[in-house]
This record gives sequence, structure tokens and C-alpha cells, in this order.
Amino acid sequence: MNAVTGASGTGLPDVALPEGADPAELLAIAEKVAREAGALVRGRPVRVEVAATKSSPTDVVTEMDRASEALIRGRLADERPDDGLHGEEEGLLAGTSGITWVIDPIDGTVNYLYGIPAYSISVAAVVGDTRRAGAWRPVAGVVHNPVLDRTWAAAAGSGARLDGEALIVPDGPADLSAALVATGFGYRAARRASQARVLAGLLPRIRDIRRVGCASLDLCLLASGHVDAYYERGLQPWDVAAGFLVATEAGVAVRGIDGLPPGEHMVVAARPPLADVLAGELEAAGAGCDEPD
Ligand code: IPD
Repeated sequence: MNAVTGASGTGLPDVALPEGADPAELLAIAEKVAREAGALVRGRPVRVEVAATKSSPTDVVTEMDRASEALIRGRLADERPDDGLHGEEEGLLAGTSGITWVIDPIDGTVNYLYGIPAYSISVAAVVGDTRRAGAWRPVAGVVHNPVLDRTWAAAAGSGARLDGEALIVPDGPADLSAALVATGFGYRAARRASQARVLAGLLPRIRDIRRVGCASLDLCLLASGHVDAYYERGLQPWDVAAGFLVATEAGVAVRGIDGLPPGEHMVVAARPPLADVLAGELEAAGAGCDEPD
């Protein structure tokens, strides 16, 4: 195993990097491919149609989600044929190298549908088992906003960058009352009902809420100091893999609640110790449960 194995202190698990894998090389590939997909996605037609729905009638897929994922998968398969591919639209194709690419071809699909310029292409190289929360960690990741042409990038142990400039999360409020908190909502009614209840309890006690509509950008905006904290229940690896690395490499702590690792149950991200304060509030509010269907 390679010496670059540790993810201690970030909230991400210590999963070893396969022999010979170089995060900097993986990052260069991620950035090239994300930008290429960005050029495709930037060609958004004036009117976008819904191609299909997934977990609920408002959980949509467009033809561009599919085209972007096909492009990314094809390019990665050309560059690194032994790696696994795990994308939002086409699922998991196992590899043999120990590296799996986790892909959100358009994160923020509803923003894309409506023409709100808060969507991204998220590409991360990950080690471990992406099917289980707490069993994988990103080692290279890129979040590219093709409309604003902004690119957040990180390689494990080498820091995070925004358009080439090093990112270190700025100091911010130590307690929640002054914190600008980003969050997001799932697509199913039972989950939304619980998320609304938790938000109603939190909102009077924080500076304000932001609902950007793109989890990868939420994590990057946190790394850049545009919000102070972020939490969301229901996130999948493709929503967060690249953003986790950008955030943690910038000095953000990422954690879960109720003794579980960050993942679908809950993701809480903020500078320490604010992350622990917010996690405690969310646990007390029962944010890790949905309302009955
Ligand atoms: C969604 C966005 C949204 C978040 C949802 C995600 P998608 O991803 O990241 O901000 O609240 O939980 O599913 O569906 O646009 O790729």
C-alpha cells in the first residue's frame, strides 16, 4: 500500500490508496473530463425537456444528464480502463484497479431544467466501496460550474483550489446564531416533511438558510467561505464525493449524526467545532428520521 493513506481528522475514513495510484494524476484526469462535460452542458437549449423521473415526479432526468454521463464514462474508460465507474444515471460498473470514479453528470438538475446557473459536473476518484457509507473516501475531485466557469479541485493531502487559487476555509462564527447555513431537501414527501420540521426549529436560531439546489456546490461554497455550514439528509456518493474532498482539504470537518458516518443518513459540514454543534442540534431534532409515509 502507498504511504498516502490517511484521512485522519477530516471525518472521512482511512481507506488505503492502491499501489501506484497518484492523486495528482487522477485530479488532472478529473479536471480534463469535467471541463469537457462542462462544454457539452453549457450548450443548454433555451427549453429543456424532462426525459424521465426517478424517486418521485419531481426527481427528474434530462437528456443532457444522460449525454454528460455517457461522455464522462467514455473518456474515463479510455484513460483508465481498469477503474470502476459509479454514476448517478447509469449506476456502478466495478473495476479492478481499486479506484472508482464517482460521477454526477449534472448536480443540480432542477436548476439546469429551469436555467438557474447553480449546477455542476462533479467527478471524483474514490478508494473503497462506494455502496457503503463510511467505506470509501475521495482522493481526487473536481466540481465544475460550466455557466460561471468556476472550478473547485482537490487532491488528497495537497489542498483544495478554486480556479487555481489555494483555498483555506476562513474563520467564521463559533456558534450557530451567527451562522449562514446551507441545506437541501430530498424528492420524497415523507423525507421533506421531516426536513421541513427540522428546518422550522433551526431557522429562528441561525443567521439564515440558503437552498442552492446543488449539493456539490454547497460543499464548495462552504470551502470558499460563502456559507458557514451545510447539512442535508439523503445525499448519495455522486452528490458529495468531489465536494467532500474540496471541503476537507480546505479545512472543513465532514461528519454524520447518530453515530453514523457522513452519508445518506446525514451529512454535516462546517469548520470545527461548528460542525459538532450543528450535528448535536440535528440529533436532538431527530433529523435522521423521515416522517411515516
Ligand atoms: C440533488 C441536488 C440537491 C440536493 C438533492 C440532490 P441532483 O442532486 O444536489 O441540491 O438537495 O438531495 O439529489 O438530483 O440534482 O443530481
